[in-house]
Amino acid sequence: MANLIATYFHPAVPISPEHIVFTNGVTSLNAVCALSLTNPGDGILLGQPIYGSFTGDLSVLSGCQLIYTPFHGVDQFSVEAVARYEETLLKAQGETRVAIRALLICNPHNPLGRCYSRETLEALLQFCHKYQIHLISDEVYALSVYDNDDPNSGFVSVLSIDPVPLGVDPALVHVLYGMSKDFAAAGLRLGCLISQNKRFLQAALSLR
Ligand SMILES: Cc1ncc(COP(=O)(O)O)c(C=O)c1O
Repeated sequence: MANLIATYFHPAVPISPEHIVFTNGVTSLNAVCALSLTNPGDGILLGQPIYGSFTGDLSVLSGCQLIYTPFHGVDQFSVEAVARYEETLLKAQGETRVAIRALLICNPHNPLGRCYSRETLEALLQFCHKYQIHLISDEVYALSVYDNDDPNSGFVSVLSIDPVPLGVDPALVHVLYGMSKDFAAAGLRLGCLISQNKRFLQAALSLR
């Protein structure tokens, strides 16, 4: 898996086996993330629309709340969308006193089929650092992207961005990957969490 990540995700910081924890699919990984990073009642921020099963995968076991961000005409893959996430976070923390612990993005996106640009990912990383929340990037469709004429529309893994020069804590950045989509092997039930955060990896290991 570390070799696959090195070849196709172009990690800015080399990924070795100790940065990877395997579970039985990305579905379970989402539950593991929510159980590890939230307490019951805490919030995880998501864009809208997004893969519908995140709702159950994240909240059923952990008891966390999903806080959806409407974009009201702003392209959710643009840098401008970060201000929408910020509005939603501030509203949740202010009005309803929900502690937001993470932002979950899906890149390439299900159901919209688009990829985030490097510029937007960098802005999202800085947003997460500003509020000290985790960025979880579900990249289960990483290799299922068609070539086209637009050089800016391809897949960029968040792993290919070095968080340190951006002033972002690497311990806040996590990628989910699995075999179900790119290898058409959903029955294999293999998912992996890739992170530089040893405590989070340890927590995931204890839960899987
Ligand atoms: C975005 C996304 N994440 C995770 C999953 C689930 O993956 P797995 O089969 O590894 O549990 C799916 C399946 O449709 C998905 O679309």
